[in-house]
Amino acid sequence: MNRHYPNTRLRRTRATTWSRAMVRETVLTPADLIWPLFVTEGEGVEDPVASLPGVSRWSVNGIAKRAKEAVDLGIPCIALFPNTQADKRSDDGAEALNPDNLMCRAIKAVKDACGDDVGVLTDVALDPYTSHGQDGLVDASGYVTNDDTVAVLVDQALNQAEAGADIVAPSDMMDGRVHAIRMALEMGNHPNVQIMAYSAKYASALYGPFRDAVGSGGRLVGDKKTYQMDAANGDEALAEVALDIAEGADSVMVKPGLAYLDIIWRVKQRFDVPVYAYQVSGEYALIEAGAAAGVGDRDALLMEKLVAFKRAGCSGVLTYHAPLAAKLLGG
Ligand code: PBG
Repeated sequence: MNRHYPNTRLRRTRATTWSRAMVRETVLTPADLIWPLFVTEGEGVEDPVASLPGVSRWSVNGIAKRAKEAVDLGIPCIALFPNTQADKRSDDGAEALNPDNLMCRAIKAVKDACGDDVGVLTDVALDPYTSHGQDGLVDASGYVTNDDTVAVLVDQALNQAEAGADIVAPSDMMDGRVHAIRMALEMGNHPNVQIMAYSAKYASALYGPFRDAVGSGGRLVGDKKTYQMDAANGDEALAEVALDIAEGADSVMVKPGLAYLDIIWRVKQRFDVPVYAYQVSGEYALIEAGAAAGVGDRDALLMEKLVAFKRAGCSGVLTYHAPLAAKLLGG
């Protein structure tokens, strides 16, 4: 098509609010949001996370209240992350398998309060439970072992499913874990528990505030580069996604979000499963810090970034701004 000025004036359809609404290609709704929440021990506790202004750790009853708030705002799913007490952490992260751990109590409280009005997504990885802050079991040389870790992750995922988790989300980046978890869910009578695979999870500098929030940051020795992906790689992300789908993932995730929009786009073009982005803690903190420094209006900054994920092909976004975004969207 050969377009010429003045027959074509692309500013015509931009001239008014109603017209911009008519031609808008991408629409964000509260149903596109997944709200990550941090759980802590105690009763009636709200413990602010210093590096995430506006985000708190809540004790179990508070988590159930946040879940009800999600339902009221039209947010379909919450993601839970525990801040495990120091005395319950160990080298092997065994607390992850305790059916009465903080995570399981939170899952049950949300399901008791909201039933199927909200989905509960749970993280499968050992870092909130290990004394060393790594996502898996560490051998004598400090290497995070793959197959031994997968065996524990399977039991962790089953423990979460037994407590009522609707979606288990392996965030550990071990090879073969999606298949192992899928088989265990099938044999364990949880055929409808979904797997959202953190398929393309990069070794990122943007996870710091999250590690503070779950209490693993100060413990972490070294980095996670032997299992999380190198930021320079894109083809490898497609290989990860292909494997996770073949192994039984219902949906896949790219993480972090904004710096990896090209990966989201490529995954969406190539595969026919829902793709989610995790706008991670560092991304949230950068928006808040930018707004506080006068870079721009906070609400406008966050909505521009969230719609970018939709435009790139996401079915939804995990974001700590979920309740605010839902309110801005009129949810
Ligand atoms: C744990 C996990 C991490 C995040 C989600 N699950 C941290 C990590 O891999 O070190 C980060 C989320 C965020 O930064 O908001 N495996």
